[in-house]
Amino acid sequence: MVLALVALLALAGCRNMEEQAKLDDPYQSSPNFDRAARDILPEAVPVGFERDDEHFSFGTIDGELADTLPFELTAEILATGQMRYEQFCMPCHGLDGSGEGIVALEGYPQPASYHTDELRAQPVGHIYQVITNGQGEMFSYAGRITAEDRWAVTAYVKALQLSQNVAAADLSEDALNALNAPAEPEMEDEPAMAEVTSEETPEATSEATPEVASEATPDAEMVPETTEEPEGTAP
Ligand code: HEC
Repeated sequence: MVLALVALLALAGCRNMEEQAKLDDPYQSSPNFDRAARDILPEAVPVGFERDDEHFSFGTIDGELADTLPFELTAEILATGQMRYEQFCMPCHGLDGSGEGIVALEGYPQPASYHTDELRAQPVGHIYQVITNGQGEMFSYAGRITAEDRWAVTAYVKALQLSQNVAAADLSEDALNALNAPAEPEMEDEPAMAEVTSEETPEATSEATPEVASEATPDAEMVPETTEEPEGTAP
C-alpha cells in the first residue's frame, strides 16, 4: 500500500515543470487574465507585515521611532508578551533581561543588559525594530513572532526595565510593605536539599535575607529549623 502510494507520487512528479505550457514573459497577454503578471493590489502588504500601518508594522510614526504602542496596553497583552519573551528571548537575555541567559552563558555572544540608561532611554519603536529586523548578532523574529505579539514583547521588555529601576516614591504602599517585609525562608524543590549540611544553611540564608541574618546570628538553634521544612516536603 505504502509502496503503491510512493510509486503514484513518483509518477505524478514525472512531468517536469520546465516542460509545462506557460507564459514566458510577465507582461505577455494571457487567455485567463489580460496579462500574465497580476497587478499588485493596493491593500497588499509584504510578507511578515500584517497591516499597512506604519506605526504597527514598522515601529515609526512619520519616519520617527514611535514612543507609544500602536494599541492600548492591557494586562492580557502584557501576559502574552511575557509568554513570548520567555519562549523566544529568555534563552539569551535571561529571565530579567540582564543578558545572562543560558545560551549566552554557554558561549553565544552575550547581549548587553536591558537595564542600562542607554537602553532605558530608547523608545518602544526601537525595541520593536530590533525584534522585527534583528541587530548585530541577534537575528530577526519577524518570521517567528507575529507583529501583534512583537509589540506585546516590546511592552514586556519595558516592564522588565521598569521592574529593575523604579523609584521607591513611585511604589504603592502595599508594594513597599511587601518589599520591606522579611523574606520567607527559601524553599527548594530539589530533593538534594536534604543533603545540605548545617554549615551551608546559615550562609545561604544570610545571602538571601541579609537583614534577618544580621540580627539573628546563625547559631546552632537556627539550623534545624531551616533544614527541617525542605526535609519534610522532600518526596
Ligand atoms: C540567540 C540569542 C538572542 C535571542 C534569542 C534574542 N536576542 Fe536580543 N540580542 C542578542 C544579542 C547578542 C544582542 C546584542 C546585539 C548587538 O548589538 O550586537 C541583542 C540585543 C537586543 C536588544 C538591544 C538592542 C540595542 O539597542 O542595543 C534588545 C532590545 C533585544 N535584543 C531584545 C530581544 C527580544 C525582545 C528577544 C526575543 C524576541 C531577543 N532579543 C532574543 C541575542 C539574542
